[in-house]
Amino acid sequence: MAFELIVKNASLPDGRTGQDIAVADGRIAAVEPGIGAEARRVIDAAGRLVAPPFVDCHFHMDATLSLGLPRMNQSGTLLEGIALWGELKPLLTHEAVIERALRYCDLAVSQGLLAVRSHVDICDDRLLAVEALIEVRERVKPYLDLQLVAFPQDGYYRSPTAVRNLERALDLGVDVVGGIPHFERTMADGAASVRALCEIAAARGLLVDLHCDESDDPLSRHIETLAAETVRLGLQGRVAGSHLTSMHSMDNYYVSKLLPLMKEAGVAAIANPLINITLQGRHDTYPRRRGLTRIPEMRALGIPVALGQDCCMDPWYGLGNADMLDVANMAVHAVPMTSREAIRWSFEAVTTVPASILGLEGYGLDVGCNADFVLLQAADPIEAVRLRAQRLAVVRRGKVIAEAPARIATIALEGRPARVDAADYAPRASA
Ligand code: FE2
Repeated sequence: MAFELIVKNASLPDGRTGQDIAVADGRIAAVEPGIGAEARRVIDAAGRLVAPPFVDCHFHMDATLSLGLPRMNQSGTLLEGIALWGELKPLLTHEAVIERALRYCDLAVSQGLLAVRSHVDICDDRLLAVEALIEVRERVKPYLDLQLVAFPQDGYYRSPTAVRNLERALDLGVDVVGGIPHFERTMADGAASVRALCEIAAARGLLVDLHCDESDDPLSRHIETLAAETVRLGLQGRVAGSHLTSMHSMDNYYVSKLLPLMKEAGVAAIANPLINITLQGRHDTYPRRRGLTRIPEMRALGIPVALGQDCCMDPWYGLGNADMLDVANMAVHAVPMTSREAIRWSFEAVTTVPASILGLEGYGLDVGCNADFVLLQAADPIEAVRLRAQRLAVVRRGKVIAEAPARIATIALEGRPARVDAADYAPRASA
């Protein structure tokens, strides 16, 4: 029998080397050394890393690639970003949202990013972005899994029509219940919004992912309510808190009570390092807070933590390139967490951890999983994070959907190596 594809001599994220991966019917049929069978296409990984595709569990696809529309964010704050998005919203057209989202998905595929959870703003009575992204979700399905979160950007209670619009968006087929309790008018409204949103998710059997405590205010404690509601409603394992930046500034004693509550509730945390180290601390003089949530402490307790990109060239962030290794690399620096174990974990935080938060089926490199994977110009996950490694091949359901040449520089120095591949500089076991 001829396989559709065999990737020869791959290294895998779990440390196995010299593995061949055979694909049949769009699924992984075998992972073992020395598969001798025929295949319609053979890729020589040459010892490089083959990993499951990158997953971005926190993104805003309705706003992506809108940088400069209708103007730039001058202060760099979250609040000016929200105001700026409010200026842009009435100007959006169905076609433009679709065009920008599809362009972004092309970029994502080229980076081996094949699953995205995107929040979509429902505080526009037209639900224009909701309808546009539902259409995009269908169009990209052959090559990218897009999961949508109903997100009341202007506040579930603060926006006059968000309560109704959120239900309308879910009725249209949006997948996940979102919220933004720290942006409600009062702490009490924020807590009430968390309760109401969790009840909607419980009634509809949906997942929950709230923007939660994206603030430098240490008294922004909506994650506590989110964890308690998760327990009360039996939503364990179905809830994520995104951002959680106020935790950076919280009292240590309070956090020592909060984290076990999150663990008990099975609430996952999603940190967005690119965005939060630029948005947070803007009211500080010096020292200036980084504003990232407490990743090492949550990991130590066994709370699932994933990393999201959040923004790419939009009212909140003028950079970004759909590169989840850039996100992982930034987290390593900004937390900081520089042990080999932590760097290796940062790779999991943009692959397997978010895949489980999204509930992706058939994800991974085991036999029987979807034949979706990425060949990277790196020997292992740590090197992939260090180099923000080139995606040499991106495979979806056994078909190569993106390819790029290796990044190798030719240098012209007398008596020195003529070709430099940064991936060759990985530390060797021998001294
Ligand atoms: Fe966000």
